[in-house]
Amino acid sequence: MLPLYKIILCNILNPKSDKSCEFIKNGALVLKRSESGYKVLEIGKEKIILPKYASKRSIEVMDTLGKTCMPSFFDTHFHWVQDDVRLMPKKNLLQWLINYTWPYEAKFKDKSYSKDKAQKFAGELASVGTLGGACYASIHAHTASDALKYFVGDFVVGNVLMTMESPDYLTQTKKQAVALVKKQTEKFKEKYAVTPRFAPTTHPEVMKETAALARKNKSFIQTHLSETTNEIDYVLGLYSKIKGYEKVKTYTDIYKKAKVLGPKTIMGHGIYLSDDELTTLANTKTSIAHCPTSNAPVKQLGLGSGLFNFKKAEKFNIHWSLASDIGGGPFVSMFDVMQSFVAQNEKANVKGATYTKALYRSTIAGAKALKLDKTHGSLEKGKFANFILVNTPKDLSNKTEEALKQIISKNKSKRKNYDSMVEQTFYKGESIFQRH
Ligand code: GUN
Ligand code: FE
Repeated sequence: MLPLYKIILCNILNPKSDKSCEFIKNGALVLKRSESGYKVLEIGKEKIILPKYASKRSIEVMDTLGKTCMPSFFDTHFHWVQDDVRLMPKKNLLQWLINYTWPYEAKFKDKSYSKDKAQKFAGELASVGTLGGACYASIHAHTASDALKYFVGDFVVGNVLMTMESPDYLTQTKKQAVALVKKQTEKFKEKYAVTPRFAPTTHPEVMKETAALARKNKSFIQTHLSETTNEIDYVLGLYSKIKGYEKVKTYTDIYKKAKVLGPKTIMGHGIYLSDDELTTLANTKTSIAHCPTSNAPVKQLGLGSGLFNFKKAEKFNIHWSLASDIGGGPFVSMFDVMQSFVAQNEKANVKGATYTKALYRSTIAGAKALKLDKTHGSLEKGKFANFILVNTPKDLSNKTEEALKQIISKNKSKRKNYDSMVEQTFYKGESIFQRH
């Protein structure tokens, strides 16, 4: 029989907002079993919590004092079928897609290859503490089902739709794309994301029809928007010749006309947006997944796309969250993403890109994009006990932002090590990964 209570002794970092994160040194995280798994009951100082529960019978105490816990991560934009192209040569987005990404995604046609890869990637996600997010699969139906079957956590997944401007070996007919989305949205409902890859590869009538299916079945919608200037020129040139779209002025308006925008839509990137476009995104309550490691300069293993203006997005009241964009981004760990967000903005002299904000945007804000923030994303009472434990420097600061910096910036010059920062990962209070 599982214990009714679990108490984990550790430092606690509990994000609250862009500006605030609760920090308890030598704390205790109390979990209580429920029918749907362990939930957070309370957090506090070890010295106060332990005596309070001393008389309880069904209790397990885990002494991990010296380690630090924080909620597990949401990665709101990543391509699980791009695990092998993360470190391939990157010059710019369109060349990288054509030369590396698409040939790799084609391999997933093979069902046993997809199954093996999904199991491996599920292990990677658990090992970096990512237990939720919005994920792109390939055009092949089973790559979405495999991800939903093997990834531990709360993910929405979608098959990219590629009906035009795509290589022969990776092109669907319009009919095939719509039929696939109909089947998947009816089967997976709010776990599925209708995923036109981006406007250039998906006929507008396919976007429109499949977006309607998303609304009918309560599914999400995700796609790419304004990631690079080349891409914008390409998409506007292309759509200026498509019937009904000749007069559409902006990339965002293409999606608006195709009825893709809305409160359950997540746009990847959104780097180059006019005020009118930002207004449209705000009015439709569309959110943005910002992918700093993918957008970073080529020297930093990104695609060199540019820097997202988070201040402007916030000024327009657009909800945004952080994401890895694997394989555009080189590492699966959200610690690497947070570090890159802080460092790139610092370098550009943009104020306000703190570690506190980075943590909030990798946890609660991600949960919010997926409409899960009432039950996920932080260590509030009543939320699911989804969290990670990390090793902590002995001289950990008492100041929250400084402590976060000590933990997160630690591997900034050996980025590969970010993928092995997490010591233990818990989903609904049960350990699903432990480093040996
Ligand atoms: N735009 C269209 N497809 C992709 C993709 O796979 N990755 C990135 N980063 N951008 C895209
Ligand atoms: Fe992407």
